[in-house]
Amino acid sequence: SARTYENILVDKPVDGVGQVTLNRPKALNALSTPLFKELNEALQNLDDDPAIRAIIIAGSERAFAAGADIKEMKDLTFSRAYATNFIQLWSTTITNLNKPTIAAVSGYALGGGCELAMMADILYCTADAKFGQPEIKLGVIPGAGGSQRLTRAVGKAKAMEIILTGKTFSGEEAEKWGLAAKSFSNFEGLMNGAKETASIIAGHSMLATKAAKEVVNQSQELALGEGVKFERRLFHALFGSQDQKVGMEAFANKDKDPKWTH
Ligand code: HXC
Repeated sequence: SARTYENILVDKPVDGVGQVTLNRPKALNALSTPLFKELNEALQNLDDDPAIRAIIIAGSERAFAAGADIKEMKDLTFSRAYATNFIQLWSTTITNLNKPTIAAVSGYALGGGCELAMMADILYCTADAKFGQPEIKLGVIPGAGGSQRLTRAVGKAKAMEIILTGKTFSGEEAEKWGLAAKSFSNFEGLMNGAKETASIIAGHSMLATKAAKEVVNQSQELALGEGVKFERRLFHALFGSQDQKVGMEAFANKDKDPKWTH
């Protein structure tokens, strides 16, 4: 598109895949309000683009994002934070996208940077990435879902330790503890891995992909019985889609390249 941004880069690295790269190198991609507005706009545009079927959110090799912009927050008051529902804007777009998102984390993913990465559907990282929720050292706490998403991902024991100490943990640990789906030995491997996975996702039925994403996300909200029932109902619903016929007929005909209608 013709739109140019100040704090991000947008491109389409492979067929069917959109990528947003945080690009505020002088501040280690600190997540200012202008950056987040651009990120939300770019993500929404990619989500609305029928040619895009999966989205990568990346930073630089040195920093995915070193957190919310501390200089911007320094003089914030309670009244203003409350009145504007500060930070809520961050999570609404990204957690409501139809297309799957992959966060590709290298370098620092601290505070809001870690929280942003955890909002993605799949988290990939380098083994030496530095994750953390250091808000406690600034006299505050995580404010963009960190205490909730981290605890669901790694359990209470690790989450308490991470959030109460503010200490960083590595990408290797993130993978071991189940926060990251995979860690890669270097930045190039990370970006290739993200593109490969995004490309695989882009090759599936978009309708089935949306349903798959929705049922996994519901597992974080619902009790097991309700979640299983919700899954079964959506599974039933997909038999009303053309892509179920396309997919299963292709298998029966030994056709390796189903022509999805969505
Ligand atoms: C604003 C930041 C920043 C941030 C780095 N910078 N992080 N600016 N907000 N979160 C700026 C620095 O001020 C500096 O600008 C430039 O980026 C380079 O950073 P340095 O500190 O010089 O680099 P280095 O010595 O390599 O240290 C890297 C670092 C350190 C360890 C990541 O920058 C750091 O501790 N940053 C803060 C991390 C943090 O506390 N994040 C949580 C934020 S609170 P100048 O102009 O001096 O060159 C948060 C709340 C979330 O995220 C809750 C709601 C979302």
